[in-house]
Amino acid sequence: MNLSKELLNNLINITSNSAIACYPYIGKNKKILADKSATDVMRNQLNMLNIRGKVVIGEGELDEAPMLYIGEKLGIGNGPEIDIAVDPVEGTNFVAKNLPGSMSVLAVTRKGNLLNAPETYMDKIATGNHIPRGFIDIDNTVEKNIRNYSELTNKDNSEITVCILDRPRHKKIIRELHRLNVNIKFITDGDVSGALLVSDKKFNVDIFMGIGGGPEGVIAAAALGTLNCNFQGRFLFKTNEDKKRAKQMGIKDLNKKYEIDEIVKGESIFCATGITAGDLMNGVLKADDKYITETIITHKNSYLELVKKEVSIT
Ligand code: FBP
Repeated sequence: MNLSKELLNNLINITSNSAIACYPYIGKNKKILADKSATDVMRNQLNMLNIRGKVVIGEGELDEAPMLYIGEKLGIGNGPEIDIAVDPVEGTNFVAKNLPGSMSVLAVTRKGNLLNAPETYMDKIATGNHIPRGFIDIDNTVEKNIRNYSELTNKDNSEITVCILDRPRHKKIIRELHRLNVNIKFITDGDVSGALLVSDKKFNVDIFMGIGGGPEGVIAAAALGTLNCNFQGRFLFKTNEDKKRAKQMGIKDLNKKYEIDEIVKGESIFCATGITAGDLMNGVLKADDKYITETIITHKNSYLELVKKEVSIT
């Protein structure tokens, strides 16, 4: 059985409503409240769907975040069994500070088709679907990846742009990119969007790389997989406790390099509604009696499609 168009429409409504729930908190420096209000809406509305859903990428463990925790069952009943990845607010700092790029995100697959990711970091690399598999690899040096990319695309290094989170942990990579005369697009948060920028030439990002959240890596892979883009990820564990938790979640080889089709299998749906405007879509706009939202979706082979919605203020 396929993931239906009806489910897709329901998910668009849900991310749209959870983004709207954040609207009052934009620029209010209240990221916990923003996250809570988006999470409440997402959870309540997922619970109304005719699905047998399970959160596999969520807001922490049950004891840490009582809503949308990993393993939580959602939905009424008899519908399809699906795995759900939730990120009610991706870019909480952006909402708190009214900066571009925050969004409310959901991704789903059939049961068993989405990697259960622990709350830990992930080393990631992504390129668009014009690059054949195997040339840009997380285990290559930065120099080799840039050389391969340059040869495959006939671009000079000075015409290549790499997107990376601006973090001290990336100092070595950044120094190397500067040495190679590659352009860098720094992002201060929100690496789901950062990874998605490789999906279309109009965003002018050739390669996304660097370390960010593991859950965000799985969510980005769900969208990039549908678009036939390339993504690899490897979890990074700091503490023994992290390693233990990962093993409990079924990860046997802690050093494994995951290819995109090991992260997300089969059909998936990805929906992301802008909270504040960013590179991918507009944020929530309030008109007199309604909110206007923009949601990007990927489903089957549909391109990153933009869906606009008007929601009356009741
Ligand atoms: P939140 O929305 O949960 O604050 O996450 C934002 C984010 O920038 C992610 O997009 C990214 O994967 C992660 O944080 C990076 O973590 P860190 O800020 O620790 O480098």
